[in-house]
Amino acid sequence: MAPTALYPTIFVIFGITGDLASRKLLPALLSLYSKRLLPKRFAIVGFSRRPFTREEFREFIRSKLNIRVGQFKEEDVKHFLDHIIYVQGLFDQPDSYKALANRLTEIDKSWGQCSNKLFHLSVPPDLYEGILHQIHDSKLALPCSDETGWTRILIEKPFGNNTKTAQQLDALLGKLFKESQIFRIDHYLAKEALQNILAFRFANSMFEPLWNANHIDRVHIKLFESIGMNGRGKFYDSLGAIRDVGQNHILMMLALIAMDKPDSFSATDIRNARSQVLRKLSSIPERHIHEKVVRGQYNGYISEEGVAAGSKTETYVRIEANVGLSRWKNVPFYLETGKAMAETKTEIDVYFKNTEDKKHEHDPVKQNILTFRIQPDEGIKIRFFVKTPGPGLITESKILKFKYSDVTSFGVMPDDYERLLNDVVTGDQTLFASTDEIMASWKFITPILEGWSKLTLKKYNKGSADVE
Ligand code: BG6
Repeated sequence: MAPTALYPTIFVIFGITGDLASRKLLPALLSLYSKRLLPKRFAIVGFSRRPFTREEFREFIRSKLNIRVGQFKEEDVKHFLDHIIYVQGLFDQPDSYKALANRLTEIDKSWGQCSNKLFHLSVPPDLYEGILHQIHDSKLALPCSDETGWTRILIEKPFGNNTKTAQQLDALLGKLFKESQIFRIDHYLAKEALQNILAFRFANSMFEPLWNANHIDRVHIKLFESIGMNGRGKFYDSLGAIRDVGQNHILMMLALIAMDKPDSFSATDIRNARSQVLRKLSSIPERHIHEKVVRGQYNGYISEEGVAAGSKTETYVRIEANVGLSRWKNVPFYLETGKAMAETKTEIDVYFKNTEDKKHEHDPVKQNILTFRIQPDEGIKIRFFVKTPGPGLITESKILKFKYSDVTSFGVMPDDYERLLNDVVTGDQTLFASTDEIMASWKFITPILEGWSKLTLKKYNKGSADVE
């Protein structure tokens, strides 16, 4: 990771007492701090509703950080906590934003510099609109000048609920802030093994000539999780699998597999190449929804805490998608995700066409499969065929494997949020979703949502892979 720009920076986190802040943001910031990748002068200002004294807040954060023994030096944790400041406030109260602005000014004064400021909305999406207005109206997002003290806004997916609400959110963001200030997080883009898809495809000349409908039979993208709701029932119930990970993480994986080589590896060109593919996703007409989409819910979901009685929210979805480009003519992309599945794994299988005619119906299909293992056990696998020693020309399949964990010089895999927070500070938008990508993905997903009621909600048992 490139060293972070050293200009003084304040990270303002709305909803610092929430799940995302304690599970992802604060541990990522602590880790960046322990690696000396944060600017020397930095502060983390937490803004939330609950009352805390400074000491109580420090203890609260420490208890939430969930540090493993030996993970960080005790001295680093102590100094990191010294950088955290709490401002109690209500998200819809202008006075609370005045108090926040005053606190930020005090910090700048004590540093004798106008710092960079990053506003991270780590709150449920129904609060975005109000907070964005308040940040704007209270002038918190005004930079000190063109050169110093930038301000940036970070928002988390889901960006809207369908095409219409996504457009509304986008219009609001566009009205209140400049595009260069807005960073839309889809943390899958920051996963090392996902970034490797582009490197692997374009750094190895042996794959690109085959990367098309002449040679590829189908692609299967899976994002399976063995966990159920884990206390997120209320939030999840308002989304379901397709909005939670389908419209974003899974479609981003599809984009990286199917995109053309970008003109350059700049943020703009990479984002454009991704969005070109997403724009070409063929919409699924209502009359075909039964053949192309399966939706399911695990038994016991409606008894999860926070889930509405009789909820019809899906915890599993499988979509057969097509990309309307000649390169991908008639190549199905199966997109599949579920909670409470048999195992936790994210992987992408690219099936190549069988080159040999089958002599008998029961002969095994000989297909090369290239698997990108995104997590856990990140790596790449290729299934290929070799001659079985002995008489005749009998072949059998073998696996060529690369695993990140086998390469000691690679060290520990970088954390998604560490990468994202580092990039937002350095101003690199490559790993953030663009407005074009978001709109294109909703354009594909919204008609499916409109056809939902036509589909039976299939039931499956927790820990089972059988949703048929
Ligand atoms: C989040 C979803 O965006 O991604 C969660 O809201 C899901 O439901 C999570 O569990 C998966 O992310 P990761 O990084 O743990 O694979």
